[in-house]
Amino acid sequence: MKVLIGSTHEEVAELAANSVLEGLERYVSNRPPVIGLATGSSPLGLYGKLAELVKAGRLDFSQATGFALDEYVGLPQSHEQSYRQTLIRDFCQVTGLPEANLNVPLGDAESLEVLEAAASQYDEAIRAVGGVDVQILGIGSNGHIGFNEPGTSLRSRTHMTRLTARTRADNARFFGSLDEVPTHSVTQGLGTVLDAKRLVLVATGQAKADAIAAAIEGPLAAACPASVLQLHQDVTLVIDEEAAMHLKHREYYDAAAQVLSL
Ligand code: F6R
Repeated sequence: MKVLIGSTHEEVAELAANSVLEGLERYVSNRPPVIGLATGSSPLGLYGKLAELVKAGRLDFSQATGFALDEYVGLPQSHEQSYRQTLIRDFCQVTGLPEANLNVPLGDAESLEVLEAAASQYDEAIRAVGGVDVQILGIGSNGHIGFNEPGTSLRSRTHMTRLTARTRADNARFFGSLDEVPTHSVTQGLGTVLDAKRLVLVATGQAKADAIAAAIEGPLAAACPASVLQLHQDVTLVIDEEAAMHLKHREYYDAAAQVLSL
């Protein structure tokens, strides 16, 4: 695991964008990239930096394919807080990824059977394009990634899940009231996330400090779903000082982040 600590949100976004760029350069050649996308506040600065790299001609998403991490159950796809609309606004419109190439789990199916069938087809669709090259992640204050809440199987695939009271309260800021926050979502599973070639997780603020410490330095345990990142061979966590405040091995992460010249 690489742990990069930025002193400002700007620096966090910059470090994360570099990691995404380097990952795409490493894993993609002679074909359009496949990018995994998170919603929420954490990746917004990163998306802005990726848009700058597109403008500078260093990245091109015009032929790329995107896969969202998750979607609420029960919101129409056209709802402004659906993750489809959120990613169209926050990613497609700033980076040029065509809306038609944005895949989002089906959350507004007419029945549970249709929803579950679509969830398992989502994993197949990712496999069919050769997998996600770089997956962008945030982390919940309870340690969730995607909407894999504490207790989720560490090998889960895309599935429907119930949101915890804490997650619904955390996300109420995007809705008029807590009652409007959906109770369920469809999320890529932890096993699905681990299949991506590179993972880049962004977290800022004190509210994430316990989750970050548990993810990086805690035991591998379903109680902190993000601890499963410890099993990935190419994962970078980009965090700020506040999110880093409970880390015990800070000195090592800082030293390891220095570039070695031989
Ligand atoms: C969003 C997602 C979630 C968020 C997490 C943090 O697609 O999968 O895991 O990344 O809830 O949200 P923010 O960044 O809003 O604090």
